[in-house]
Amino acid sequence: MTDKTPVTILGLGAMGTALATALIEAGHPTTVWNRSPEKARPLVERGATRAATVADAAAASPLVIACLLDHEVVDALLGPAADVLSGRDLVNLTNGTPEHARTAAAWAAGHGIAYVDGGIMATPPLIGDPAAAFVLYSGSRAAFDRHRETLGALGGARFLGEEPGLAALYDLALLSAMYGMASGVRHAQAMVGDERAEAFSAEYLAPWLQAMAGPIAMGAAGDDSDSPLGMQAIGLANIVEGARGEGTPMSLLTHMLTPMRDIVAAGYDDLLPPLIDEIAQA
Ligand SMILES: NC(=O)c1ccc[n+]([C@@H]2O[C@H](COP(=O)([O-])OP(=O)(O)OC[C@H]3O[C@@H](n4cnc5c(N)ncnc54)[C@H](OP(=O)(O)O)[C@@H]3O)[C@@H](O)[C@H]2O)c1
Repeated sequence: MTDKTPVTILGLGAMGTALATALIEAGHPTTVWNRSPEKARPLVERGATRAATVADAAAASPLVIACLLDHEVVDALLGPAADVLSGRDLVNLTNGTPEHARTAAAWAAGHGIAYVDGGIMATPPLIGDPAAAFVLYSGSRAAFDRHRETLGALGGARFLGEEPGLAALYDLALLSAMYGMASGVRHAQAMVGDERAEAFSAEYLAPWLQAMAGPIAMGAAGDDSDSPLGMQAIGLANIVEGARGEGTPMSLLTHMLTPMRDIVAAGYDDLLPPLIDEIAQA
């Protein structure tokens, strides 16, 4: 016997499997359901119980966690199980928009389900390591407080507030920054070329990006005294000209050129060298 809260996981893709594994390792009686049942086998071997239906899975635990492909799949699976979910706590860790979260919270409230929306800021191998993974939550504070410790088994648990869309908003904003960084990384690697890319990434690119996290933490407020805009514009022009000169594909620079177009539109064009002006207007 254990005093750990029983938990149900709906969805055993890459992420759902990692969540279930972390809960099993933390000693929680864990029930799992997946559309393709064979994915449950390794988890059952580690102590999980496989449920045959979503309703059976939901009935097994006071805390039900959904980690599915998208909002449509969540709706299609949970809608018919609303009666069973009633009176339970539902944590939806499926990626979605703030509006998806608000709609789901309203649906849940209408069925007596305490709803928490969430955004997982980690890849599956990081799940279970609170130093590396964190999960954003918003919605029912009572449900979050009931399961704070259990959710902590997945990664650092950060509650943003009772507005259900907040976790999705922060999740998407963080992902937007990640994808912007990723396109910059791809462009940087393309600039140095395939032969140098691996050593360049390990020795220079990763440490450089880590160092740049410091200034990012200071926020977006407009003080550019350390790095004046005019100076940055010249640097950007040199990136564009240098990449073009070395034959690097230009398409990955969209993440830099689009904001620069906005800066021009906002009237800072007198600070910008002609090359940037020309590109930003294109
Ligand atoms: N993987 C990551 O790095 C990561 C990181 C952060 C957040 N997330 C989020 O976690 C969620 C799950 O991602 P994942 O990586 O686990 O994706 P995944 O490996 O593609 O798994 C998708 C899951 O959804 C199920 N599914 C898809 N269509 C379905 C349908 N029509 N009916 C029933 N079940 C259906 C799949 O079932 P089958 O197994 O039967 O196909 C599987 O359980 C997503 O919202 C994702 O954004 C993932």
